[in-house]
Amino acid sequence: MIYHEPFDYKTNEELLKAAKKLNIQLPFQGDLSPLFRKLEIGGKTVPNRLAVQPMEGADAYFNGSPGELTWRRYRRYAEGGSGLIWFEAAAVGPEGRSNPHQLMLNNENLESFQSLVKDTRDAAYKAYGDSHDIFCVLQLTHSGRYSKLGSEVSPKVVMYNPYLDKSTKSLHILDDTELDELQEPYIETARLAYHAGFDAVDIKSCNGYLLNELLAAYGREHSRYGGGFENRTRFLTEVVHKIHANVPNLCLAVRLSGFDGIPFPYGFGFAKDSPLDIDLTELKALIRRLLLLGCSLFNVTAGNPRYKPHLGRPYDRCLPGSQFPDEHPLIGIKRLLNITKGLQKHFPNVPFVGTGYSWLRQFFPYVGAAVIENNEASLMGLGRSSFAYPDVPRDLVEQGHMDARKVCITCSRCSELLRNGYHSGCVTRDKEIYEKEYQKIKADE
Ligand SMILES: Cc1cc2nc3c(=O)[nH]c(=O)nc-3n(C[C@H](O)[C@H](O)[C@H](O)COP(=O)(O)O)c2cc1C
Repeated sequence: MIYHEPFDYKTNEELLKAAKKLNIQLPFQGDLSPLFRKLEIGGKTVPNRLAVQPMEGADAYFNGSPGELTWRRYRRYAEGGSGLIWFEAAAVGPEGRSNPHQLMLNNENLESFQSLVKDTRDAAYKAYGDSHDIFCVLQLTHSGRYSKLGSEVSPKVVMYNPYLDKSTKSLHILDDTELDELQEPYIETARLAYHAGFDAVDIKSCNGYLLNELLAAYGREHSRYGGGFENRTRFLTEVVHKIHANVPNLCLAVRLSGFDGIPFPYGFGFAKDSPLDIDLTELKALIRRLLLLGCSLFNVTAGNPRYKPHLGRPYDRCLPGSQFPDEHPLIGIKRLLNITKGLQKHFPNVPFVGTGYSWLRQFFPYVGAAVIENNEASLMGLGRSSFAYPDVPRDLVEQGHMDARKVCITCSRCSELLRNGYHSGCVTRDKEIYEKEYQKIKADE
């Protein structure tokens, strides 16, 4: 068994030696120029290959409009120089919100989203000139089993899952009619997102939320949304088809979990006959279909953060009450890189955003540059690092390297803030705001 070890490398050599010891071939190169190559997505030129991953800040107003900290966050991302900003999960309706401060776009607050997108784009133009035209994606979500109404948990599931549910009692299992009715809010929110100025919407299908769970609904009986591949992918494919038909000039993206860590037949992505082996066969078939339906961008992650968070975000400090995984973070990172590589190699001309770099601290640009150079992903997506150090692209251009004093230390406090219902951000590197926020958790204890 290889146990977890915290990050403890001061040089490239030390990191590569640790990888070698684990028998891992980590893509790595000193030439960072691949990160600054332009990329075509849906007829638009993205200025570089550095992407901000969707990261919920839980700082919207109750009506779903972006709050002050939301504005601040996106301005910081834009000023930092990333070419693509994947705006965080925005609920398609109040009953699908993960918390009362989650973004939610509707007719009433469209103007505030229009201003947010404009402000973000303007910040990028101001910093880098008119040709630095960032690509803005809005992630649309229904939180499914992690929904809250106000601050009350209000799970909506597609079937009982023994890995996630303590019992079958009081589970709200959405019936087919309820699922049918949920399609329209996606289409309407996508239409509004187009009017707000987003280049694309992502029909979020990862991390254990509603659409991810549908992909794994093998055991949902007597339903148009359960059982075989056609049924399990129905919601996603129908929504994509309808958005493409109704909002033809909006790019379509999907964030998918390569696997969610839950064994077959309760999870998605593991082989049926070998429950610990990842099997990309269905995912490839799904992506092929989504491409035919008009999707032009994919983002690949893994795991369900409420089940085995290390699968999607290797860390050095666990959330209180949870345990360290029995694996070295480099193994988790290599797994994430391999999943994206498997898909990118299968669809060489389709843009895929890769995930899982933050644990690598100041060394991730060298890994990302090699990944892009080898066409193992098209963009390098940064999650927690974007909270901590939004100006990585700027530092890479101006100084040629990252500043080790500014990196994300994967302390999980951003997740802890989110879980506890507070505004989320980097407690370590953005202290002025988020250390104070974190004190509220301490005060609650
Ligand atoms: C506080 C927090 C909020 C997140 N919010 C979202 C989200 O809104 N949508 C999403 O798809 N993933 C979300 N994620 C996952 C990240 O996008 C990303 O996949 C993960 O942090 C791993 O990347 P990293 O190693 O660069 O952090 C969130 C993660 C954290 C820690």
